[in-house]
Amino acid sequence: MQRGRGKAEKRSRQGRQWRSVCKGLVLGTLLTSCMILLYCLSTPQTHFSLPEVPVPYSCAHRPSQLRSKQTTNRSEQASGQTCTPKVDIMFMKTHKTASSTFLNILFRFGEKHRLKFAFPDSRNDFFYPSVFQRSQVKDYRPGMCFNIICNHLRFNAPEVAKLLPMDTSYITILRDPAELFESSFHYFGKLHFEESLILLKDALCWEMDDVLFFKLNARKGSTVSKLTPELRAKALEWNAIDWKLYQHLNQTFWKKVDAYGRQRMAEDVAELRRRNAEMASICIEGGRAVEAGSIQETAMQPWQPIGEKSIMGYNLKKNVDKAHRKLCRKMLMPELQYLTELGVNLWITKLWGHVRDIINW
Ligand SMILES: *[C@@H]1O[C@H](CO)[C@@H](O)[C@H](O)[C@H]1NC(C)=O
Ligand SMILES: *[C@@H]1O[C@H](CO)[C@@H](O)[C@H](O)[C@H]1NC(C)=O
Repeated sequence: MQRGRGKAEKRSRQGRQWRSVCKGLVLGTLLTSCMILLYCLSTPQTHFSLPEVPVPYSCAHRPSQLRSKQTTNRSEQASGQTCTPKVDIMFMKTHKTASSTFLNILFRFGEKHRLKFAFPDSRNDFFYPSVFQRSQVKDYRPGMCFNIICNHLRFNAPEVAKLLPMDTSYITILRDPAELFESSFHYFGKLHFEESLILLKDALCWEMDDVLFFKLNARKGSTVSKLTPELRAKALEWNAIDWKLYQHLNQTFWKKVDAYGRQRMAEDVAELRRRNAEMASICIEGGRAVEAGSIQETAMQPWQPIGEKSIMGYNLKKNVDKAHRKLCRKMLMPELQYLTELGVNLWITKLWGHVRDIINW
């Protein structure tokens, strides 16, 4: 009797499960079709030509804001040099190169100086991999002043030049191309990310506060796979042009470090690390990144690649003092949430995310 009832229950439970799986499949298929349709419709098919109104030389709206370069008590800087923080920036986002971390720095800098971002409309990239057109910029009108463009795009120099002012600084992050084939977990060390930030801060006349960061979008460590020397050689052969470019920029990078001063660089990197560690102890629960499943707030959940849950994130500490609360939240905020906060409507990206959730991809 008991066993009979158990079997019936089991059967009806299985039936329910089947029905919900079927429902999920039908709904998933329907939504995916809708998505594909909308995606196609939202891709601009024609690029009507826009009138060419020249952009001003600079879009810095407070040119009087000179800043003494005395951010540290260094004697060589205390000689009364002044500079204006550079605010016009084109950042070319690349894969697996700490771009998300750098984007967070740019978002914060943009908010601090009330800069105008050239954002995409309804999604988080400029129709990558199709070639960038300025008509893809949200609310674009010819002659408008934009300060920063940093979302993923396929570079198109003439179009970018017609969007951003003449004094724009063009920035990107490069990695050893062979290492792009390996895991991206340890990439911060290989990139000399901190040294690069110090050079950037110096070149753009920014402050140390501007370049503080937490590693965003780091992957779980388990996927590390080292290339054999033979495979590495093959990878470099396949990517010969990237390899040449990387070697060239590696050389100019170290020349710049020498010009900056090795000792001075070492001190500044140590200072940056000290400040980052200080911020981590103020902001981060447990002081380190955790796996997606252990992140309590959805606002702090990073976007995951399809079929994986490998991207780590953070829990914001509960009782951060008032002075740091806002900064902590911003420094920890994943890219999509920050874009939304900056006013980008991401309905295509989000709908895609919901579809993936429903079909449990
Ligand atoms: C700069 O010098 C002042 C006074 O000597 C000191 O209080 C301050 O902590 C120093 N700042 C830094 C960043 O070293
Ligand atoms: C980059 O440059 C440094 C200094 O010149 C050199 O030691 C290093 O081997 C170079 N790395 C690559 C990958 O070329």
